[in-house]
Amino acid sequence: MKILLTGGSGQLGRELKRSLASLGELVACDRRQLDLANPRVLHDAVRAIKPTAIVNAAAYTAVDRAEAEPALADAINGVAPGILAEEARRLGALLIHYSTDYVFDGAKSTPYTEADKAAPLAAYGRSKLAGELAIAAADSRHLIFRTSWVYGLHGNNFLKTMLRLGRERDELRVIGDQFGAPTWTRHLADATALILARAEIPNGLYHLAAAGETSWHGYAEAIFTEARSAGLVEQLPKIHRITSADYPLPAPRPANSRLDCSRFRRDFGLALPDWRTGLIDCLADARF
Ligand SMILES: NC(=O)c1ccc[n+]([C@@H]2O[C@H](COP(=O)([O-])OP(=O)(O)OC[C@H]3O[C@@H](n4cnc5c(N)ncnc54)[C@H](OP(=O)(O)O)[C@@H]3O)[C@@H](O)[C@H]2O)c1
Repeated sequence: MKILLTGGSGQLGRELKRSLASLGELVACDRRQLDLANPRVLHDAVRAIKPTAIVNAAAYTAVDRAEAEPALADAINGVAPGILAEEARRLGALLIHYSTDYVFDGAKSTPYTEADKAAPLAAYGRSKLAGELAIAAADSRHLIFRTSWVYGLHGNNFLKTMLRLGRERDELRVIGDQFGAPTWTRHLADATALILARAEIPNGLYHLAAAGETSWHGYAEAIFTEARSAGLVEQLPKIHRITSADYPLPAPRPANSRLDCSRFRRDFGLALPDWRTGLIDCLADARF
């Protein structure tokens, strides 16, 4: 197997480099080597590399900044995945792509399934939905994994922000009326590798996030509790629960980010561990 990995320096990309390394030849590219905003570069690179699988971990992920530069977000998240899918079809390659809970408006009261209508609230979610649709339209072999609240030890994420703020402040204000599942990059990357190693791979859109659910406030509390158990912090800051209205951001977020992953479990016989297990294991990694 020859795998082309995009976004190799992102938080998920770095874990994928580790998880995919044993599957065959891995060509991992960062933005300097393969710019998804440049369609010509993208066509040429895929044709030159001739992968049997493309794993697209590159994305424009600055959710609030996307409100000010929607065209760039759309080029990277909306147009480039379609180009990768077209090139994958030419080569008979499989494309694995990641999408987001932010394609939903969050108004549903139960977890979202793949059959639920996407209705993004903001530019980032619209650009990611455009990418999903472009892949489906290209009619290549593909898997789209919609995931949520991604974190790891690399890159920027809520876990790292909380640990930093906890060192700087005695009190924090964290949103308690948005619900979802924090998903560890290692679990996503390992699941991707397990699937790629299979002889028979289904096609289509799947929800793939950690089991269980919490709010950002519950997640923040768990971060400090588990970080103290792991010996990473000494003091626990006081964490005040606030509402989304108390903390307005340029891009509104869905109140309900919960993803129903039963289709993935049924078709692959796999499920990601509970979000808190991922958090504990990720923090254990931080000790070394
Ligand atoms: N983070 C989340 O909470 C979350 C939630 C749901 C779904 N997702 C999805 O999960 C996937 C992985 O996200 P992540 O959290 O790993 O994101 P990330 O840490 O921001 O990584 C994204 C990577 O894409 C690269 N990139 C940006 N623009 C590019 C371009 N024009 N050409 C090539 N590469 C470019 C970035 O490069 P630079 O380092 O040079 O900027 C970075 O390495 C994405 O599809 C994202 O939409 C993420």
